[in-house]
Amino acid sequence: MATQIDIRGRDVVTLDTFSAEEIRAITARARALKDAPPGTPLAGHSLAMVFFEPSLRTRASFAIAFGSLGGTVIDLVAGRDLWPLEMREGAVMDDLADEHVRDAARVLSEYADVIAIRALAHQGDWAQARRDTIIVSFQKHAGVPIFNMESVLDHPCQAWGDALTIEEALGEPRGRKIALVWTYHPKAKPLAVPHGVGVMATKLGMDLTVARPPGYDFDPSMLQTMRHAADSSGGSIRFVEDSAEAVENADVVYAASWGSIDLHADRDAERALRDGHRDRRITSALMASTDGARFMHAMPVRRNVEADDAVIDAPGSLVVQQAGNRLHIQRALFRGVLGV
Ligand code: CP
Repeated sequence: MATQIDIRGRDVVTLDTFSAEEIRAITARARALKDAPPGTPLAGHSLAMVFFEPSLRTRASFAIAFGSLGGTVIDLVAGRDLWPLEMREGAVMDDLADEHVRDAARVLSEYADVIAIRALAHQGDWAQARRDTIIVSFQKHAGVPIFNMESVLDHPCQAWGDALTIEEALGEPRGRKIALVWTYHPKAKPLAVPHGVGVMATKLGMDLTVARPPGYDFDPSMLQTMRHAADSSGGSIRFVEDSAEAVENADVVYAASWGSIDLHADRDAERALRDGHRDRRITSALMASTDGARFMHAMPVRRNVEADDAVIDAPGSLVVQQAGNRLHIQRALFRGVLGV
């Protein structure tokens, strides 16, 4: 029988604020809800989504999950629908911003029962970017739960859906080996997905090996979170440079690309470093060196750059199931946070 948990009213900004029992209970509920008629438990409830960046999976899964349960959804695109927002407390707003985040968050809270935000980092000092100012400001000023639809530091709903996918493919995650393998991408991608996967895997007692080139380490504070989680769960985390070494004995090969936090403020230097690793791709030969490991990627995926067509489309690939599970985990999370 699934553990009884209560996550009513909680923000979903990182998996670190949820216990392993809560994570497992929500994945169990998502599995149960897959086979049940959705009904309209969210009738009378509303979700306001605010996107500072594009999205396919997150936007569609959040909107369809909430709407299919009877709720009302509004999708706001920053730069198109919102007034330019001021984030600085106490600012004299005599420049470009027309509205303070303090007011936008409080007003949206009058209309919506949940606010969801996607806001990533752009160029600049990592020490500043990692503060996740936009989502933290909404958390501070909103009067309703905040969902992180991907921020500078984390992508918890992606990771929660990934936990569901791993459970479906492999059973209990504890003791399973997951290789998170850095792959080349023409852009410096956010660290949110690898961070989220790292927190999820270590919380659930998995043995995580991260393969990345020199200069592509995690944020130190997020790494500390993962190490603490591994200590508590009986899992582990280690870092290697060689992708082939990482995938030895792996049950899951999870491909991801991320930029260098050391060079976050220097786009040209970061690109030069990244371009030296163009050959880091998940190939059929790499997957064949495993004992039937399953392939995962959060998507969007650059075919034949991050991973070969043959890997993405192989019978052992979980990428489409993984994306589909975003919907099911979201239904369970909305019901849990709204207590319906
Ligand atoms: N994985 C993911 O978050 O996809 P989108 O960026 O398309 O939402």
